Amino acid sequence: MKTVGFALLAAGKGTRLKIDIPKALCPALGLTLIDHVILAIKSFTHQAQIPNELSVIVGHKKEEIIDYLNTQKYGAHYLVQKEQKGTGDALRSYFSERPENKLTDYTFVVCADTPLIQSETFLKIWKKLESEPHLNAIAATFKISDPKGYGRILRAASGFRIVEEKDATEAERLIDEVNSGFYLVKTSYLLEQLEGLDNKNKSGEFYLTDIFKTNSAVQALEFKNPQEFLGVNTLEQLDEVTNILRKRKNSTLMNSGVVMYNAESIWVDQEVSIAPGVHLHPFCALYGKSSVEQGTVIENGSIIKNSLIKAQAQIHSHSIVEDSVIGPKAQIGPFARIRPASEVGEEAKVGNFVELKKSKLHKGVKVSHLSYVGDAEIGEESNIGCGFITCNYDGRDKHKTLIGKGVFVGSDVQVVAPIKIGDKSFIAAGSTITKDVPSEGFAIARGSQTTKEGMAHRFLKTKK
Ligand code: UD1
Ligand code: CA
Repeated sequence: MKTVGFALLAAGKGTRLKIDIPKALCPALGLTLIDHVILAIKSFTHQAQIPNELSVIVGHKKEEIIDYLNTQKYGAHYLVQKEQKGTGDALRSYFSERPENKLTDYTFVVCADTPLIQSETFLKIWKKLESEPHLNAIAATFKISDPKGYGRILRAASGFRIVEEKDATEAERLIDEVNSGFYLVKTSYLLEQLEGLDNKNKSGEFYLTDIFKTNSAVQALEFKNPQEFLGVNTLEQLDEVTNILRKRKNSTLMNSGVVMYNAESIWVDQEVSIAPGVHLHPFCALYGKSSVEQGTVIENGSIIKNSLIKAQAQIHSHSIVEDSVIGPKAQIGPFARIRPASEVGEEAKVGNFVELKKSKLHKGVKVSHLSYVGDAEIGEESNIGCGFITCNYDGRDKHKTLIGKGVFVGSDVQVVAPIKIGDKSFIAAGSTITKDVPSEGFAIARGSQTTKEGMAHRFLKTKK
């Protein structure tokens, strides 16, 4: 069985992006650029059952990249390219920093800034080399109407070479077949070629592309799906590839039975899972590791972040749910905000202009209008009136509110936490509750009313 080492190049500065984030970690549909590339590699090696090892070549902002990739648990090796002296130099680091890489049969060179690549393309390159074992190396190429920035492919009777934009003549710049930056190379050939690389070019860099030569056993393999090779060098290109990733995700979802109204306006991060039969209305956005179960409806403009929305829940328009769990058949919004660590039970209702924070509403609880519920737990079937507030913060600490089952809380009630309200108790409207209320108790805490007949005229500005 042949073995393959992946050299994933991610040491470059990404100067053309003009931002502080290392290019490999630029956000792309809830992941980073490099995640998409690694996922494609993993999917390919899994499909083809090839023994493989992945090395990420890092340099510029290496700590950030390593820290991030460690959280993703890909089991990659991190190899440091000390100075960014070009892609050829990066490959030298690939071998010098981990000599075991010399023992692989093949080396797949992959760039971290081409996130649209798919496993099928790796497979095609792999099969080509398998079927033509005399070849030493294959470079994936494609044609593009505006080849600016890419290395141009100069084909010969046998073999080919690559000339970088900076070094190309006027005539060479007109060539529309370009280098994708993906290569599969026999490791022995690569080692031999790296010895001889020089940096006599306009950039003063060691170009890996110089391993490809005319009149030699190397082949430029043209692909007809140029989109997959789109590289990200600028923020405009980042937007372009992210949009393509978004469309891909949306079509996968629609083809699995997710209904999208105006899919073009809907944003679903790569790792979000959505069951068939879910309806997504225009301009909703689902981020992070969210998961939505069957029969759920998410209406216009709602935002779901890292949350679990259980079956047949309804998220009415313009609601925000973050790091929380929404129970089956629950109703949220419109205009509700569910802040982190909240749990809304089965068939519970959180209505318009209600904010929840770190709170648990059990089955059937209703908080229908204009309320703040923070650090609270509310038992089954309790009904909370309009304008309810948990006064959970004393300026220094946060305190808990515990409300039992079957409680009725009238409108405009404040409870000053820490506080316990027992099962089946009743709190009268307009009360400010500062002491615990026992089960089945009735509590009222408001100023008593005085009415003076015929006195209103004193306060009204009506003319005589
Ligand atoms: C490179 C190719 C070009 C090809 C294009 C495709 C070379 C010389 N040119 O150009 O032919 O058309 O990709 O997208 O290879 N990197 C390092 N260490 C370095 C320099 C770069 O690890 O010292 C990494 C970068 O992080 C990046 C990749 O190598 O992931 C490519 O570098 P980049 O500067 O983007 O090369 P391009 O100019 O795009
Ligand atoms: Ca590039």
